[in-house]
Amino acid sequence: QSEEIEYLISLFRSIPDFPKPGILFRDFMPVLADPRGLSLLIRAMLANLPVSPDEIDVVAGLEARGFLLGPAMANALGKGFIAVRKAGKLPPETLSQTYALEYGSACVEIEQDACAHGERVLVVDDLIATGGSAHAAAQLIQASGASVSGYSFVMELEGLNGRDALEQHPVSTLFSMP
Ligand code: HPA
Repeated sequence: QSEEIEYLISLFRSIPDFPKPGILFRDFMPVLADPRGLSLLIRAMLANLPVSPDEIDVVAGLEARGFLLGPAMANALGKGFIAVRKAGKLPPETLSQTYALEYGSACVEIEQDACAHGERVLVVDDLIATGGSAHAAAQLIQASGASVSGYSFVMELEGLNGRDALEQHPVSTLFSMP
């Protein structure tokens, strides 16, 4: 791994038993707080896109940490940004998609006219665990008549097979952690 990726990894903070006992929480907020980390992070995400920039029309970020990456990436690519939000935050009309959590379920939404028909969308988030929320975002994008060009994550949690949930579309991550 490059010295730059090593530096990014060094900025992550690991918190045992958060938000629940037995979970080792990987916190990427210190990456954003660090001027060099922030700059390296956005450049590394852009250098590791899952598809060529000419296959991306718009960037979609997942609430909440995808909102911290997506607009910066979209701006650098000369594209716009759309928000995939938790249920109940966006005014009507919205499209909704429910997905399974370890215990229970969650729901994400986009504004019905967020994507234009046929647009190719890059889905961005900080981390892929099971891939459930990213897959739900893809279902929303497809339901609105747009298509997914690929997925960009900073980090992949090992052992959860999150990529399997994302099926046919290319996935890029900068690194993985247990
Ligand atoms: N960090 C941040 N978000 C997460 C994690 C984590 O370790 N696991 C699942 N979502």
